[in-house]
Amino acid sequence: MKDDRVTGGGLFEAGQRLYVDPARDLELTLVEGYSADFATLIAETVWGTDGLRYRSFGLEEEFDRIPQLYTLELREAGRLVGCYALADKTVRIGDERLRAVHRMFLAVEASRLRAGYGRLLVEQTRRHFLDGSSGPLMLYGYIEADNSRSLKLAEAIGYRRLGSFESMIFNRFRPRDDAAVRPLPDLSAAVSEQVAATLEGHYGRFGLNDLDQSVDPTHYWVLREGERVVAGVQAQRKRWRLVDLGGFGGRFLLAALRRTPVVRRALPDGELRFLALSNAFCDAGAENALWRLVEGLLARQGVTVAMLLLDPRAPLHGALRRYGKRGLLSHFGVDAPVHVMAGFAGVGEPLVTALSERPLFISSLDPT
Ligand SMILES: CC(C)(COP(=O)(O)OP(=O)(O)OC[C@H]1O[C@@H](n2cnc3c(N)ncnc32)[C@H](O)[C@@H]1OP(=O)(O)O)[C@@H](O)C(=O)NCCC(=O)NCCS
Repeated sequence: MKDDRVTGGGLFEAGQRLYVDPARDLELTLVEGYSADFATLIAETVWGTDGLRYRSFGLEEEFDRIPQLYTLELREAGRLVGCYALADKTVRIGDERLRAVHRMFLAVEASRLRAGYGRLLVEQTRRHFLDGSSGPLMLYGYIEADNSRSLKLAEAIGYRRLGSFESMIFNRFRPRDDAAVRPLPDLSAAVSEQVAATLEGHYGRFGLNDLDQSVDPTHYWVLREGERVVAGVQAQRKRWRLVDLGGFGGRFLLAALRRTPVVRRALPDGELRFLALSNAFCDAGAENALWRLVEGLLARQGVTVAMLLLDPRAPLHGALRRYGKRGLLSHFGVDAPVHVMAGFAGVGEPLVTALSERPLFISSLDPT
């Protein structure tokens, strides 16, 4: 595969100190990859503010798939008190390629919340990457619409909202397998090429597109009718512990749901195990084929819930919403929108406008 990533500029020199405050014994350092301390802090963090709140497990597997992953570590007297993950990548906006830094997993250790460390991480990241970049650069991240603390920080620093994704939950408590569901690696090279061309047709004009890097054939599945592939989807397993569903009575509702036998099966040990879907497509008018594919995957992977994030401006979004029967859990509050918040350096207004006017692509390499 042709490597046309935009790199360089000394932004990612491992070991760089981005900020030092001797009075508070604070140091903010750029690390290549991630440390065991980082993985522990991320696993202990409860994500969210007022709405859905959850812990997320097994993220190392997702980090390990990101080709150029760095982390920022904020240490106080040597102890990790805050962090941020950063992916150095290139995205497509139509025919243009733009260097982008994807910011993920901003977290401050529970005992150090509200001490200004979140703001420090966000400000120093913007200063280092946007003020320090010699070429065009976009710094972007996803923030759940009800994560008011994190949104407030992003807005205060001048990040713009480029668009949003909405999550769609699909749930079957007793999913049925389907012989027409096939893993892509079991099929011929011609089928893989057909899938790649179909994905390009669906998503090639989307903003933030990184199809060339994020399609992972080893986790890609299709539904075939005869020789024809009518639907395809990438699926990654995820594990969350739900702490609160948000809104009035969210905790109460969660507790009640956990006591309901049929729901308890979806939350073994209180954990929501689900498939995160991406790179989905189906023939126009054949949305039920996509859900048949997902149901077959649920059956094979022994889970009952799948989640797909899509820009509401994507044609597939409306079509899937109109196809109603997505199961009981699709009605509960785990589907607040996720905003795409971005800051730019050296990027002309026409490109920024083009980016905000087209549907946005959500990459499976941008874990949320
Ligand atoms: C988001 C997070 C990193 C902020 O870190 P923090 O160090 O507590 O935040 P700061 O002390 O720098 O405060 C930043 C702003 O958020 C506001 N804020 C902080 N905690 C808040 C709370 N519980 N409710 C409302 N606002 C809050 C502060 O008032 C401050 O705004 P101000 O400067 O205008 O007063 C931290 O809350 C966290 O780790 N949350 C859980 C993980 C998470 O959801 N991360 C975001 C992923 S997108």
